[in-house]
Amino acid sequence: MRWLAATAGFVLVAAAPPQDVALKELMPKGMVVGVAINQRQFEGTDAAAVEIITKQFNQISPENALKFQPTQPAADRYTFDAADKYVQFGVDRHMQVVGHNLVWHSQTGTWVFQGADGKPADRDTLLARMHDHIRTVVGRYKGKIDGWDVVNEAIDEDGSMRKSPWQAGIGDDYVAKAFEFAHEADPNVELYYNDFNLEKPAKRAGVIKLVKDLQARKLRIDGIGNQAHWRLETPTLDEIDTSLVELHATGLKVMYTELDINLLPNTPRGADPAVANPYAAGLPDELQQQLARRYADVFRVFLKHRDAVTRVTFWGLSDADSWLNRGRANYPLLWDRERRPKPAFDAVVQVLRGAK
Ligand code: XIL
Repeated sequence: MRWLAATAGFVLVAAAPPQDVALKELMPKGMVVGVAINQRQFEGTDAAAVEIITKQFNQISPENALKFQPTQPAADRYTFDAADKYVQFGVDRHMQVVGHNLVWHSQTGTWVFQGADGKPADRDTLLARMHDHIRTVVGRYKGKIDGWDVVNEAIDEDGSMRKSPWQAGIGDDYVAKAFEFAHEADPNVELYYNDFNLEKPAKRAGVIKLVKDLQARKLRIDGIGNQAHWRLETPTLDEIDTSLVELHATGLKVMYTELDINLLPNTPRGADPAVANPYAAGLPDELQQQLARRYADVFRVFLKHRDAVTRVTFWGLSDADSWLNRGRANYPLLWDRERRPKPAFDAVVQVLRGAK
């Protein structure tokens, strides 16, 4: 409710239209709400998106700009044009700026893992490359980036260490080394471990074991990032709740770092388009409502654990921006392709208002 001045005195306006509401103002104290942004957004060419991002969010993550490959395409070449603009976008708006990510098996040039003789690089070479990369990138944004995803996706579905080229070349302690190097490069920056499918007990147990190992080594780690690439029915709310409680029992902050709700079926390549891309002509109202209920439900879980959850970040602003389209029409986020807030946005607003 808000009051508007009118000639006859004051008029009570029932409820502000949802677009006039800002998520960041409704979040509980100690919990920021963010969005992963792309190049058109941090360069300002997508003005409509910039306006929404500026108004709604108090945290940003870089969808791609700060990954290994774009920041260091070759051993002797760093490219920071895009990354600098991303960071400045957040600094200008006094947002919490996250770095994503330093060590991952994906979006990392093949040169990183190659030795001089065409064989895989050895431990010392890999550690030297990792050190140089982390020192250069983290050092550059010291005091501007608030927290880094240091290692992304190091655990396999069965809870064992993922057999990534980093793991194969260095050994299991590559994760500890990455955290050590990141802390050395900026002693004041927060450091996170980030992964997906943490609602699955075996995988979660592997992540918790890894985190405890880092803690036993007295390394700095501030939070666990739960990517939260979810669906309408899975994971269940109970699974989300249990996972949250167990992750927080490590003593670390819990963050939902890449939230989106995938509405499309998992179909093999070449599947009948009617099956693989069922909402090409638009999303049926029933599904629109289901998506809204799902977002309301998951936000209720976040709020229930408001002392544990310090951040919720959407992986993209609007349905048009989502990585989940990949040639199909997906509808995973709170804004539609025309950048209008969806019923899911209103549902989140309602839950947040109820909590105020
Ligand atoms: C995705 C980006 O959204 C895409 O644009 C890119 O092509 C591939 O990577 N887990 C992560 C993110 O940690 O970095 C990924 O982002 C999505 C899955």
